[in-house]
Amino acid sequence: MSQTAVLFENIHPVADKPLLSASLTIERHGAALPVADLHTALGGATVAGIRSRTKMNADAFAAASSLLALGCFCIGTNQVDLDAAAGRGIPVFNGPFGNTRSVAELTLASVIMLMRGVPHRSEAAKRGEWRKNAEHSHEVRGKKLGIIGYGNIGSQLSVLASGLGMHVYFHDVEPKLAHGNARSVGSLDELLEISDVVTIHVPSTPQTKGMMGAEQFARMKAGAHFINQARGDLVDVDALAAALESGHIRGTAVDVFPKEPASKDEAFVSPLQKFENVILTPHVGGSTLEAQAAIGDDVALKLARFLSQGTTKGAVNVPELDPGPLRRGVRRILSFHENAPGFLSRFNDAVSASGANIAAQRLQTMGQLGYATADLEGDLPAGFVDHIAALDGSIATRLIEG
Ligand code: NAI
Repeated sequence: MSQTAVLFENIHPVADKPLLSASLTIERHGAALPVADLHTALGGATVAGIRSRTKMNADAFAAASSLLALGCFCIGTNQVDLDAAAGRGIPVFNGPFGNTRSVAELTLASVIMLMRGVPHRSEAAKRGEWRKNAEHSHEVRGKKLGIIGYGNIGSQLSVLASGLGMHVYFHDVEPKLAHGNARSVGSLDELLEISDVVTIHVPSTPQTKGMMGAEQFARMKAGAHFINQARGDLVDVDALAAALESGHIRGTAVDVFPKEPASKDEAFVSPLQKFENVILTPHVGGSTLEAQAAIGDDVALKLARFLSQGTTKGAVNVPELDPGPLRRGVRRILSFHENAPGFLSRFNDAVSASGANIAAQRLQTMGQLGYATADLEGDLPAGFVDHIAALDGSIATRLIEG
C-alpha cells in the first residue's frame, strides 16, 4: 500500500528529498486548511507535516487514522495535542535548532547598529534631521560583549563576535566549553558589570522569568546596550524602559515581548515604542528562508528515519530511542506500549515464541509510555505483528523490513 506524506502550510521543498527516499508519496497543501478539509486530507496521511497554523487537536488525530508520525516544521509544538499523539504512539518531531544561525546574525547586526547609534540617527533622518556626528558612536572591535546563556545561539554568536574583534564573556548555569578566546565569568552580576553590550539567550523557565529587572539594569555599565532576542518574559520591560528613560541604558534591540500580537490584524503595543534608540522587531529572529530550509531538512529527516528505522530521537512526546540503521535481511518490530510492569515479559515471550533470533533489543520509557524495538533474524510466523499488537498494554506496533 502506498504511504503518503501530507504537507500543509507551504513547507520548504527541501523536505521532499528525505521523504521521497523513505518511499513516501508527497501531497502538498499551500496553506493551513479549514477543519473539515484538514480532516479529509489527514485521512490519507502516513505522516503529516504542519507549521504553526494547523491545529492538531484530538479530533484531528482521530481523523488521521493511519498516521504514524507528525512533523512540526517550526520550533514550537503548542499547536499540537501532544498527549493525544502519544496516546496513539505517534511521535511528534520539530526543528528546534534550524534557526540558530539566523538569530545569531540578527543579534550581531543589532550589536553593531546599537553601538553606532544607527536607530536614533535613522529615525531623525526620516524626519529630515541630519545628526552627522560621532557622539556615542563606536566600533565594536575591542568592546566587551556579555552573553547570558552559552547554548546553541549564544555560542554561535560568540564565534561571530570574536571574528569582529570583540572580547566575548559569557555566563551560563551549566559548565560550557568556551569557543576561541571567549571567557566564562563566575556570575551574572560580574557579566553585567563588565560588558559594553549584554545579550540574553536563555530559555523561558520559572527560573529565568524576569531575570533581567531594575536591579540587573542598574548593575550594567552606564551607557551600555541590552539585547533580548530570546523570550519576552525574561525581561521586565518596564524596568528596561525606565533604564532607557534615565539614559543608563543607551540603546536596546528587542525581538520578543511579554505580549505579542496573535496576528497582523492586532496592534502591537510596548512601552519601548516611544524611544528612538531602540530596534524593535516582530519576533523574526529565527525567520529567514535559510532557517526554513534547515528546519525542512531536519524535520523531514526525522520523519524518514522514524519510518525506515523506528528512530524517535528528537521526538518531543514519546521516549527517545535510536536503534540505528537496519541490516539487510533483518526485521525490526517496534512497540509503543503502556509503561507498566509485565509488558516487557509478555513482549519477550511473544518474540521468543516466534522462533526468530533476537539480534538486538532496546527499551526506553517516558512517563506512561514505553517504546521497545527488537531486531529479528529468521522467518516470522504468520500473524506475528497482530499477535504483538494484541498484547495487553500494546498501543502501536509496526514491523520494518531491512
Ligand atoms: P539552548 O537551550 O541551546 O541554550 C540555552 C542556554 O541557556 C543553555 O546553555 C542553558 O544552560 C543556559 N541557561 C539556562 N538558564 C540559564 C540561566 N538562568 N542563566 C544563564 N544561562 C542559563 O537554547 P538556544 O537554542 O540557544 O535558544 C536560546 C533562546 O533563544 C531561547 O529562549 C529560544 O526560545 C530563543 N529563540 C528565539 C528565536 C527568535 O525568533 N527570536 C528563535 C530561536 C530561539
